[in-house]
Amino acid sequence: MKDVYVLGIETSCDETSCSIVKNGIEEINTVILSQIDIHMLYGGVVPEIASRNHVKDIVFVINKCLKDSNMSIDDIDAIAVTYGPGLVGSLLVGLEAAKTVAYIYDKPLVPVHHIRGHIYANSIGKGMTFPVLALIISGGHTELLYMKDHFDYEVLGSTLDDAVGECYDKVARVIGIPYTGGPMMDKLAHEGKDNYSLPIPMDDDSFNFSFSGLKSAVINLAHNIEQRGEKLVKEDLACSFQNVVVTSLTSKTIRAMEKYNIDNLILAGGVAANKGIREKFDTLSKEKGFNFSYPNIKYCTDNATMIAAAGYYLYKNGNTSDLSLNVESSAKFV
Ligand code: KG4
Ligand code: ZN
Repeated sequence: MKDVYVLGIETSCDETSCSIVKNGIEEINTVILSQIDIHMLYGGVVPEIASRNHVKDIVFVINKCLKDSNMSIDDIDAIAVTYGPGLVGSLLVGLEAAKTVAYIYDKPLVPVHHIRGHIYANSIGKGMTFPVLALIISGGHTELLYMKDHFDYEVLGSTLDDAVGECYDKVARVIGIPYTGGPMMDKLAHEGKDNYSLPIPMDDDSFNFSFSGLKSAVINLAHNIEQRGEKLVKEDLACSFQNVVVTSLTSKTIRAMEKYNIDNLILAGGVAANKGIREKFDTLSKEKGFNFSYPNIKYCTDNATMIAAAGYYLYKNGNTSDLSLNVESSAKFV
C-alpha cells in the first residue's frame, strides 16, 4: 500500500506549527514557533498579537518543515489544518495558508477539529486502538469521550463550567504563578504537602465535571490566609489543589470504564502533560488491569504533528473540504 504523507498546520492559539506525518503514525518532521515569551508579559494570550505573529511566522514555518524533512510539496498527499475552535484571527492565518498551498499545488484540504488533533496525538508512534475512553483535558475542554471507532463516538460527560486547564491557570494566577500556570503548579505540587482542605467538585453519579467551585474555594482560601496575616505555602496549596483535581478526574473516568466495559484509556490535551494525573492513572491501570497510554509530552500542548496525524484518518475517510472552508472559533467536536 502506498504511504500517505500529510502536512499539518496548527495556529489556533499562540503556537505557529507545521508538521509532516506518514500514515498517521510516523512523525517525519515538526516545526513549532511558540509565542509564550511574548504573551507572558501580558499574563495571558493577547489575540491581536497572536495573529500578527502567526502572519509573520507561518511561511517560514511551512518552508522550514519541508526543507528539514528533505521533502518537497510534490511528496505531500494532503494538507490538514485546524479550522477551530480557537482564536479567530489566529485560526484564519493557518487556514488561509493551508488553502493557498492546497490551491496552488492542487492538494486535498482536510479540516481538523483541534480536539480531534489532541486525541490523535495518541496515534503518533503507536496508532489507535478501539474501543477506547478518551479523557480530554485541555485549556478549553474537559470531556469523557467513548470512542468505538475513528468516527463513532459519544460524549459521556463534560465540564459544566471551567475547563480543567483554565482552572489550573486561574488558580496559578491568584497565588502569583506566572502564565502559563499549569506546568508550574504541577511542579510545585510535587514539592508540597496536602495540607489545605478543599472540596471535591461534583462528587456525584454523573460523568460531568465542574471546576469553577474549586477555583473559588482556592481563591477564598488564599484571601483568608492573607487577611489573617499568615503565609500561604504555595507548594502545599498546589499539592492540595492537584490532589482534588486528580481525584475528580480519576474517580469519574474509572467509573465510566467500568460501566461501559472499556479496557483502553487515553489522555488528550495540554493537561495530559500533568505528572500527577499520569502517575495516578498509571497506578490505577496496574491495579485494575486496563491499558493506559498518553501522548509523549511534546505532543500534549498545541502542535501540528497531532493535526497531521488526525488529518490522515480524516483524509482516508474522505473528509476533505473545498476552498470555501472557513474558521469556526467555537467549533463543537460532538
Ligand atoms: O491543550 P491546550 O493547548 O489547550 C487547549 O487546546 O485548550 O493546553 C493548554 C493548557 C493550559 O491550561 C496549561 O496550563 C495546561 O494545558 N497544562 C498543564 C500542564 N501542562 C500544560 N496543566 C497542568 N499540568 C501540566 N503539567
Ligand atoms: Zn490545544
